[in-house]
Amino acid sequence: MRTLGIGLLGLGNVGSGLVKLLEDNAEAIAARLGARLEVRRIAVREVDKPRMVEVDRSLVTTDVEAVLADPAVQIVVELVGGEVAAREFVLGAIERGKHVVTANKALLAAHGDEIFNAAERRGVDIFYEASVCGGVPLIRALRDGLASDKIDEFIGIVNGTSNYILTRMADEQRPFDEILADAQAQGYAEADPGLDVDGWDAAHKLCVLCSLCFGARVPVTEMLVDGLREIAPIDFDYARRIGCVLKPLVIGRDHASDIEARVHVAMIPERWLLATVSGVFNGVYVSSQALGPSLYYGRGAGMMPTAVAVVSDVIEVARDILSAASSGLPLRLRIRDWRERPVRPRGELVSRFYLRFRVRDRPGVLAELDGVLAREGIAVREVSREVGETVILTTQAAREQAMQRAFEGFARIDAVLERPRLIRMMD
Ligand code: HSE
Repeated sequence: MRTLGIGLLGLGNVGSGLVKLLEDNAEAIAARLGARLEVRRIAVREVDKPRMVEVDRSLVTTDVEAVLADPAVQIVVELVGGEVAAREFVLGAIERGKHVVTANKALLAAHGDEIFNAAERRGVDIFYEASVCGGVPLIRALRDGLASDKIDEFIGIVNGTSNYILTRMADEQRPFDEILADAQAQGYAEADPGLDVDGWDAAHKLCVLCSLCFGARVPVTEMLVDGLREIAPIDFDYARRIGCVLKPLVIGRDHASDIEARVHVAMIPERWLLATVSGVFNGVYVSSQALGPSLYYGRGAGMMPTAVAVVSDVIEVARDILSAASSGLPLRLRIRDWRERPVRPRGELVSRFYLRFRVRDRPGVLAELDGVLAREGIAVREVSREVGETVILTTQAAREQAMQRAFEGFARIDAVLERPRLIRMMD
């Protein structure tokens, strides 16, 4: 039986999971693939660092170039993360005619065009199943399962760390920082957890999803991106009272004229299936014209779930290599064109809003808040005076730009003690 060689860049959480899966399930993989997969070189930053798996020390090097240039390596798996070095490594691998598997959504969001073009020119594959929703085979479902369909909209929970934090804040009323530390200890969070909690990791994934679903290149700089640092226990209480839960969402919509792309926490009705996607789990609801609604659910982060997705890509590349070897046909390319499509400006996006104020308790303050909103054409739906200095207002649907102007108005009211907190609502 033929053996194909893997060069691994990075031996952290996911790299260790890959080594473990290839060892534990070697026979089953060989039976399914008709070939063996072997890790032949591993590039790391520090050779002597303790690892989660045992590997042959002679395979480990700090010299990435040695891995890329090794003729025994046919498939390079990039798991170093980040954008700058990863770009160089991936382009270096492509240049040497290696197929590439990556889990790096930040890299694809920032340099996808360049990388896919380079791969196309060189006739090698780029696979990236683990870049969105970890172990859930979402990329394959979108690329292959829905290849004949037209996707109009998707709404997803694609950042496990944010979902884990919001779920535990809702269940346990524990502070944000403590729960984030747990997520880091369990290997869910990015090396820079700001990427998770400020929405950028989800934005990178949204970029990948927009390209797959709409054939559109949506730069993260053009998306509405908002994180979850300002969510407080009282927001969960209010959501519960109105039959909602708080979820960290990505939303993509193809409006034909333009693309809507946003990342933010939203209050969603608890009867939605997405409302039951809890903890580190991810879920993506997709609406397409022929199939209708479909939902993809599973573990979106963590060592073994992400490794499952990476190895699935390695197996697919290996199949391509084997089929090309047997048929003499060129390797198939599965590269989707990223077209320039207009992105709906952030200010034009429409939502209902939940606003939490801290106000000095004096007569007329509610009328002043309502007055500011009314001047921007925003209608109040409900008003709730909470204990202490807190007032909560929910609004009817309004544009982001109108709400932004209303915030300037709130800042001019002396009874408003701090910048109000805002959560978007969906129903
Ligand atoms: N930090 C990411 C998450 C890892 O929490 O979803 C998986 O991409």
